[in-house]
Amino acid sequence: MEIKIIENQNPKQPPKDDSKLGFGNFFSNHMLIMQYDKNKGGWGPAEIKPYGVLGLEPAAACLHYGQIVWEGMKCYHTRDGLRLFRPKDNFNRLNRSADRMCMPSVDVDYMVDALKEFLKLEKDWVPKLKGTSLYIRPCMIAHETFLGLHKADKYLLFIILSPSGPYFKEGFNPIKIMVEDKYVRAAKGGTGEAKTAGNYAASLKSAVEAKKKGFSQTLWLDSIEMKYVEEVGAMNIAFVINDEVITPELDGTILHGITRNSVLEICGKLGIKASERRISIDEVIERIENKSLTETFGMGTAAIIAPVGSISYRDQEHIINDFKVGPNAKRIYDELIGIQYGDIEDTFNWIDKIE
Ligand SMILES: Cc1ncc(COP(=O)(O)O)c(C=O)c1O
Repeated sequence: MEIKIIENQNPKQPPKDDSKLGFGNFFSNHMLIMQYDKNKGGWGPAEIKPYGVLGLEPAAACLHYGQIVWEGMKCYHTRDGLRLFRPKDNFNRLNRSADRMCMPSVDVDYMVDALKEFLKLEKDWVPKLKGTSLYIRPCMIAHETFLGLHKADKYLLFIILSPSGPYFKEGFNPIKIMVEDKYVRAAKGGTGEAKTAGNYAASLKSAVEAKKKGFSQTLWLDSIEMKYVEEVGAMNIAFVINDEVITPELDGTILHGITRNSVLEICGKLGIKASERRISIDEVIERIENKSLTETFGMGTAAIIAPVGSISYRDQEHIINDFKVGPNAKRIYDELIGIQYGDIEDTFNWIDKIE
């Protein structure tokens, strides 16, 4: 694949200490950009150029009407070289999000190939320490300039790269979450299952209030009855009840998490019973109290598997498994990162080699 590359004449060095990366703090020397113009035949070719300002006009449509979709995936440093985890699934989901927001789709195979070329150029930015990775953020925005609500004809897609460590300061240790019973994240028929910027903006008020009270994340309930569990801030959620992993079904309001799907598949491989069903917050609390619910964990690309040590609902904290990581979460986590870092054979065909 031929991609135009404009090299950064002022390149920075990647951060030296992989143990101090945090999440989303550093950006590599280049970005990949593609432009779409409906009146010029759609998408132009991918270009790689120095990371820098995009130069949007104040009338750019995304700033006013919110046509913005994005993705999050990771590149891992493994003993056999650089590896991506299910990248086609991310670009397919980008297309589904784009469709919901009346934005154009991309050619998934072309995007994966272009991303691989980009990663070859930035290979020194993939951190090596176990548990770190290069976080990849593709983002599509409407950048046509107009006022007046309508679907834009011009879009920009960019990909930026951020060497990252654990998403939570707790690492792979239990976090505290709070059930949100005032605000809602998404309604049926809305944009909840699209990865679009507005969903995250709408979640911030709750996240800020949760943080003030000492919680890492908000656990969202359905918007109609405020009764059924949906997902947490940037993760899907699972409960272990009587040794069965249970995660809320995909009902149009939650993200079709790639980690969630991987966990369900891994449960099959490990012989752990798993199912998708509606689960009410009352059932969750009752089962924590009668000890039939023994584990809770979040699932997402950024956080991988995030054990939950307590759930607070209506100002009452309910402690799970004495605030310790449970055996199922640990087994699933070990299997998932084992596959991602190339230490366990990938029988699912999830790993995509870069070189
Ligand atoms: C709202 C939301 N739910 C769930 C997830 C988990 O999805 P994935 O496992 O594909 O990263 C994310 C992360 O992207 C998210 O932002």
